[in-house]
Amino acid sequence: MSPAAKSEPPRGRFITLEGGEGTGKSTLARGLADALRGDGREIVVTREPGGAPGADAIRALLVQGDSGRWSATEEALLFAAARLNHLTHTIKPALSRGAWVVCDRYYDSTRAYQVAAGGLAPATLETLNTLIEAPAPDLTLVLDIDPAAGLARSRGAHVGEDRFERKDADFHARVRAEFLVIAAREPQRCKRIDASQSAADVLIQALAAVSALNSVRQ
Ligand code: TMP
Repeated sequence: MSPAAKSEPPRGRFITLEGGEGTGKSTLARGLADALRGDGREIVVTREPGGAPGADAIRALLVQGDSGRWSATEEALLFAAARLNHLTHTIKPALSRGAWVVCDRYYDSTRAYQVAAGGLAPATLETLNTLIEAPAPDLTLVLDIDPAAGLARSRGAHVGEDRFERKDADFHARVRAEFLVIAAREPQRCKRIDASQSAADVLIQALAAVSALNSVRQ
């Protein structure tokens, strides 16, 4: 091994939080970060769409305005552009320096919202993921709750940023169903957590799933 290779820090872990509206992802992200920082490592908490200046500018286009302003294909292109900017400027540099990244939403959200609920072809998402060289997360926590209960929690919390929340009940039912499909299809990567539990119980289950990552070889 060369001296340069020897001094490289081990790659960090990439944890994503997924789920429909009002599932408590942001609360869980904060709780996870506090608990994991206690172990003395750098934790980067970030979110999509956003997480870097260019991606934040694209976020405003996606989450504001009339719910019909973009087609699912247009949305997928905007999410992919935001994701590439986020990966380039925030996620990949953090993982390279050994930080752990906790990311509120990632490409599974595109699969649930644009593909399953919006009608985008799955192959188009695969093409976009390949194009932007999106790494797979090491762990994805899928927070699951009845969409009506989730929407009741989130309503009013994101004034002006509720373009997707305003979609109809059928849309949100398809989003939830697809997250469950993803969790069942990729049990190695994904852990489903019942988000109707208290935030404290959700955090305990999340930390149990995260602790398994510590035993995985770098
Ligand atoms: P947030 O409210 O969790 O910050 O996310 C913003 C909205 O964007 C949320 O309603 C879900 C939606 N979204 C997608 O439709 N596709 C995606 O790929 C991502 C990341 C988010």
